[in-house]
Amino acid sequence: MNHHCKIAPSMLASDFSNLKSEIEMVNKSAADWFHLDVMDGVFVPNISFGIPVIQSISKFAKKPLDVHLMIVNPDQYITKFKNCGAHILTVHYETCHHLHRTIQTIKNQDMQAGVAINPHTPIEVLETILCDVDLVCLMSVNPGFGGQKFIQNTYTKVQKLNQLKKENELDFLIEIDGGVDTENSQKLIKLGANVLVAGSTIFQSPNPTKTIDELKKIK
Ligand code: DX5
Ligand code: ZN
Repeated sequence: MNHHCKIAPSMLASDFSNLKSEIEMVNKSAADWFHLDVMDGVFVPNISFGIPVIQSISKFAKKPLDVHLMIVNPDQYITKFKNCGAHILTVHYETCHHLHRTIQTIKNQDMQAGVAINPHTPIEVLETILCDVDLVCLMSVNPGFGGQKFIQNTYTKVQKLNQLKKENELDFLIEIDGGVDTENSQKLIKLGANVLVAGSTIFQSPNPTKTIDELKKIK
């Protein structure tokens, strides 16, 4: 049976000069989470925003903050992200030498723990951590920028990951991040996606609230 997905607008694509009204638009919409992309210019070739901006967002956001860390040495900052309001904290597999410890540290601070993988990273590397995570984020573009083209191979990865999830009777959420639009969402949901991140699809739409609604209605 197909299901509705959680929708997580990526604030990276919002108008930073009108951040408060963008937050309020999301608050009033059918969206489920705020997706916040933190980039360090080291792990990815771009720098976005960090702790003070997330703290400001958390003052007005009425929905959980889904923080996606594209940074090296994430362990150093886990407590800081908790303190600025993160509910879900996702680290990249590619940045963690001791992923199990990192995941436990996030959970010990009363956040949900996620792990993200790049498009070229096979899902098999996650097999031994799946029982510990609350969310797996499959990158469907190379992380670093909004507005990129969806990588088709993601479909196969969602399917494989969902199969592993079912075989092992696990209940982590499968999140898809990058190039998600109203066209590819249906197939992603059918293959097992539970959370769709969408940046440019929502914020470049003439009517973001309506676009969120459309994404939310897909099943
Ligand atoms: C990419 C970020 C994504 C991005 C999505 O590095 O992790 O969350 O903001 O933006 P769109 O939906 O425009 O691809
Ligand atoms: Zn992201």
